[in-house]
Amino acid sequence: MGLNRLWVHLIDVDLPTLSTTNRRMLTITTTFLLAASAFLRAAANPVSSGSGALNDIDGQRFVQINVPSLPTDTSLKVIPDAQHPFVAPGPNDKRGPCPGLNTLANHGYLPHNGIASFEQLIYGVEGGYNMEHDLASALSALAILARGNAFINLVSIGGVSDQVPPLPGKIDGPTAGGLSKHGRFEGDVSLTRHDIGEGDYQNFQDKLYDQFLTYVGRYGGDSPTSGNASVVTLRVLQEYKYHRFLSEQASDPNLEFSIARMILSYDDAAFLLNFFANGTENIVDTDILGSFFRNQTFPPNWHRRGSPGDFTVNQNTAAAILSAHPLVPGTNKDGVWTPDAPLNTGSTFKDVHLNIMQNLASSLNTVTGDLKTNVETLLAALAKPFGVDPTKVRPKGTPGQ
Ligand code: HEM
Repeated sequence: MGLNRLWVHLIDVDLPTLSTTNRRMLTITTTFLLAASAFLRAAANPVSSGSGALNDIDGQRFVQINVPSLPTDTSLKVIPDAQHPFVAPGPNDKRGPCPGLNTLANHGYLPHNGIASFEQLIYGVEGGYNMEHDLASALSALAILARGNAFINLVSIGGVSDQVPPLPGKIDGPTAGGLSKHGRFEGDVSLTRHDIGEGDYQNFQDKLYDQFLTYVGRYGGDSPTSGNASVVTLRVLQEYKYHRFLSEQASDPNLEFSIARMILSYDDAAFLLNFFANGTENIVDTDILGSFFRNQTFPPNWHRRGSPGDFTVNQNTAAAILSAHPLVPGTNKDGVWTPDAPLNTGSTFKDVHLNIMQNLASSLNTVTGDLKTNVETLLAALAKPFGVDPTKVRPKGTPGQ
């Protein structure tokens, strides 16, 4: 009998007919059941360590954020396993601009509703793709800080959700945004999404994907199983990313391609090679590409990579993609391409980190108590792979943007 049914059954008992001893027993049993019920509810949410009403603000319950320990199994293995079949998203499930996260949610490696905590994001990308721990932590930290709610430790991988209210006091604007919100993380010159202002900038676009396939056809590698010119190579991404930049530079009068956006967008292209490749042969062919981008499901007989893919591995790939056609960060101001002033931190990594901080809400600096604890945990996780001191380089952006 479930706890709720047992509870209903117990209160149905006619109290006056019970003896004093039985009544005392009933009181003890009820007290125990209520305590057990509360415990089970807490246990059902493994990331929730909220310490109760004392920590509630604006009707939100604080959830402490902890960087999980390192995964114990980082081996090559078939993904998905039998416990994670594909289930198509329903109308209320959130999906957004990241094909990697959308696929994880469709297979239950992330909550199927698309609302995830910092720890769940890390477990998801480590388990599904063998992403290395510090890289996974930095991306997940940016997700919660930029577009989630660090007080309740949740972010939507798509658009705004009732389940992720804005931070207490709305100190970073009236909504938490979700990863689909433009700026800070989602940005211009994506592989398969339009720029904002040019149509749907969150969801997969057939037209852009078809362009991508023409680049695979022109520059791709051959495979005995998927055919000639069917493998996505470095060269394909070098040429297609450059094409995407030139095309948006010409057509998007408000193109934003600051150093952080530029490098993150090249990182996304590098993720494609480093994390979508079948770990057995280390290639992404057009079948695999279509499975992740178009259908947002793991391909048949797919294995995650055989060793954790870290920040350095991915940055090297991103740098190799960019090296064929080096670009200067900048923006289109009313249609006129304007290079950004250099940030001069002394390294590209530090420039990228500083630029990310220039966009995160400055109000994160003035928080106190529990929220401050979570914010500082996330800022430290974000800074770690960049080799930056998180106490020195702080959020400086306009709240609500
Ligand atoms: C916690 C980890 C991650 C977070 C928070 C995250 C978030 C995002 C966001 C916000 C975007 C949109 C950027 C844009 O506007 O182009 C994006 C794009 C992308 N992500 Fe992720 N991501 C994560 C992990 C991954 C992983 C593990 C993969 C691959 C297995 C991946 C593959 C991609 C790709 C290929 C794109 C570019 C899509 C396109 O340009 O059309 N991501 N991600």
